[in-house]
Amino acid sequence: MAVNWFALENDIKAILKNPQWDDGHIGPVLVRLAWHASGTYSKKDNTGGSDGATMRFNPESSDGANAGLEKARAMLEPLKQKHPNVSRADLWTLAGVVAIEAMQGPRTPWYPGRTDKEKPKTAEIPPNGRLPDASQGSSHIRDVFYRMGFNDRDIVALSGAHTLGRCHTDRSGYTGPWTNTPTRFSNQYFKLLVNETWTKKEWNGPLQYEDSSKELMMLPTDMALIWDAKFKPIVEEYAADKELFFKDFAAAFGKLLELGVKRPAAKL
Ligand code: HEM
Repeated sequence: MAVNWFALENDIKAILKNPQWDDGHIGPVLVRLAWHASGTYSKKDNTGGSDGATMRFNPESSDGANAGLEKARAMLEPLKQKHPNVSRADLWTLAGVVAIEAMQGPRTPWYPGRTDKEKPKTAEIPPNGRLPDASQGSSHIRDVFYRMGFNDRDIVALSGAHTLGRCHTDRSGYTGPWTNTPTRFSNQYFKLLVNETWTKKEWNGPLQYEDSSKELMMLPTDMALIWDAKFKPIVEEYAADKELFFKDFAAAFGKLLELGVKRPAAKL
């Protein structure tokens, strides 16, 4: 039986606002789920990516980079029960798309057709360590995103998702939001990177940066975007032109969600 996509999208929209969750909204963590499900892709051997919904299985489920995402997956599970014909792989990626649009972002091109692996062989589950490490610099960022098939412009555009959400000490070890509007998709992240003075936060946690109000944060990988001579002009472009950022983000995020999907290539 076919999935009623219209009803499913409406059901996703209906669970986004949640007073029990950070900033009253689960959109940001759903975007992180869609990204982490997809960002394990390696173009070298065409492994990883969202198809299969392999994040339910070890070692991917216990990858430190995925800490906290079990909660996001659990919040989507009732929708899987209500729409039994949707694959979790489609549900997790679509939820990220619906969340961004509901948070006033662009509509990302998205296509169904992913299937769930029920008993994946070890080789079908991506190993730990494929997702980026926030403590590192631009050469690591390039290694990880070039492995997925992205270029510098895509990397900067995708990083703009950090306008949403926040870090949690019990998940990544880092703390705080990147912007004052963590549930509204915008180019605020780029504006802050360019216009704020960022200094090292003095605390016992991992190295992160704080703005002059001490309320906002940047990861070392975020700072790398303005320290790298090739990334920086792209950050400045997006800081100056929200529409351009939205257009480039939607294209790059759409490409991310398609990585490794085993069906006839979707038209992007
Ligand atoms: C959160 C790292 C790229 C979307 C986080 C967190 C870290 C992180 C450490 C905090 C997790 C927590 O403590 O809850 C990185 C690094 C990246 C990267 C190192 C690349 C160099 C991306 C991309 C996207 C994205 C490409 C989406 C397109 C998000 C979102 C959150 C987040 C929405 C907030 C989650 C929440 O509020 O629960 N990221 N990220 N990130 N990331 Fe990234």
